[in-house]
Amino acid sequence: MKLLVNIDHVATLRNARSEGYPDPADAAVICENNGAAGIVFHLREDRRHIKDADVYKLKKVVKGLLDFEMGASEEMIRICSEVKPELCTLVPEKREEITTEGGLNMEAIFDDYKNRVLPKLADAEVPVSLFVEPDIDDIKLCAKLGVPVVELHTGTFSNAQSDRVKHELKRLKEAAEVAHDLGIQVNAGHGLSFENIEVFLREVPHLEEISIGHALIADAVFNGLGNTVSRMSKLIASYKNG
Ligand code: PXP
Repeated sequence: MKLLVNIDHVATLRNARSEGYPDPADAAVICENNGAAGIVFHLREDRRHIKDADVYKLKKVVKGLLDFEMGASEEMIRICSEVKPELCTLVPEKREEITTEGGLNMEAIFDDYKNRVLPKLADAEVPVSLFVEPDIDDIKLCAKLGVPVVELHTGTFSNAQSDRVKHELKRLKEAAEVAHDLGIQVNAGHGLSFENIEVFLREVPHLEEISIGHALIADAVFNGLGNTVSRMSKLIASYKNG
């Protein structure tokens, strides 16, 4: 099991002023030097955090996995096809949202992904992951589309009141099992933190890559990015994914 660090919020901090620092690419190097297996960024249509120049810089400096998170617009497909990351994670994107609010609506996107999005990314030889709710019917639609990877949305679990945590973990566990049985790699992310990660890793099987952003960058303000990433990557590596 591996940690991928989402460095969007380093760009958020950089963009709060026009001084050019902190640089997400510098953060990526520190993350990789402290145990992260890779880096995730989300290039949004409105460029609110990561900018185009960051993407090309990250492509140069990241030695491990580069996971390009994006909405499936023609513009993003073009940039991603040019950058050729190790993985492209497709997410629903709404301009007015503060952060990604949930998994893809699989029924709604199915035909468009089958006919437009996935053939284009396949032509560019970019492996695709779909960010989905831990819902068995949605996982089956991912298998029907032939994608090699899914990222399970952990946001509902992360925000759940204590009486709902068990229920959300059960949904994630079942979704991970179905995806694994269908030969799909299982990634996960959204809202994970030092507080909730251990119960999640204990209960949910077959996990490969865990994507964490906000909680790590927040912890790093007090503890230093290297210390934060080192602590989380050791924690994640200590869990088996069987
Ligand atoms: N995975 C996906 C698909 C996301 O959209 C995000 C947020 O950008 C994350 C993981 C990381 O979420 P968080 O910042 O809450 O750790």
